[in-house]
Amino acid sequence: MSKRKIILDCDPGHDDAIALLLSCYSDELELLAVTTCAGNQTIDKTSKNALNLLNFFNKSNIPLAKGSSTPLVRKIMTCPEIHGESGLDGFTFPLYKEQYDYRKGYQLIIDTLLNNEEVTVVTTGPMTNLALALSHNSRIKNHIKEIVLMGGSTGEGNITKAAEFNILVDPEAANICFTSGIPLRMLGLNVTRQILVTDEVVNEASKIPTRGGDLFVKLMKVFNKNQRGFFGLSAGPLHDPATIVSLINKDVFTFEDMNVQIDISDTDQAGKTICSYNEPHNVKVATKVNVELYWKEIFKHLRRCK
Ligand code: RIB
Ligand code: CA
Repeated sequence: MSKRKIILDCDPGHDDAIALLLSCYSDELELLAVTTCAGNQTIDKTSKNALNLLNFFNKSNIPLAKGSSTPLVRKIMTCPEIHGESGLDGFTFPLYKEQYDYRKGYQLIIDTLLNNEEVTVVTTGPMTNLALALSHNSRIKNHIKEIVLMGGSTGEGNITKAAEFNILVDPEAANICFTSGIPLRMLGLNVTRQILVTDEVVNEASKIPTRGGDLFVKLMKVFNKNQRGFFGLSAGPLHDPATIVSLINKDVFTFEDMNVQIDISDTDQAGKTICSYNEPHNVKVATKVNVELYWKEIFKHLRRCK
């Protein structure tokens, strides 16, 4: 069976880091390119983290381009409360030399799509780069199999009552993607907040004798502490790898066809993903998760990162 081709646009970010690990060590996926966005931290920090991670995973051959430093029209919003000053507090990487691709993020997305067919674009941060790519070159639509995003919620948000972080940072970008006509698969807080990095999970991971296990444990200890402190959660939800797990193992998530609109107002509803079963259905929305199977996939890939 041929591998599914993906592009990952991310803002590492503790959970993005694990999504990137799965992308690099999956038998089912071929990671064509990585682009970074500003979100969990500034673009320079998320990009440095992505560069370090790709080198750590021995994948510095995969092109990595820095994306937009700001949302399309709104002011940048970062989340050091959760991800720390570096954006990936808790793990110190060896020193690598800079190896960014010469192109801007949206241009690497365009070029990678025009050189491939049936590509899945995965976003685990604000959707600014994909929106810029679609705005610069509409022909790329014909090369995208589907967009798979971590973002939104069928219920409440996490940063405001209405909105989840990735959508709230750049609602206009999300709106461009959600109205593009491209098949969309949304994994929102309604499922990702069921996937908690409990002490049992960390304890289980600490028994994995690989560099991936060590990276996971060190990152999650900081992630958990910050999630408890900032959101008052019992443990951190491991949001972003849900996108990759849903591509690797079809049995983990259940999806329902819905209509999803993005609130792009300047009210306290800004960034809300307004979900209904009305026609037309433009998004497949994750509504259920098999948590046990999810962790099986995470641990399987941590073991591969020797
Ligand atoms: O709301 C959760 C999302 O915001 C995750 O992608 C996390 O990494 C942050 O970007
Ligand atoms: Ca993210």
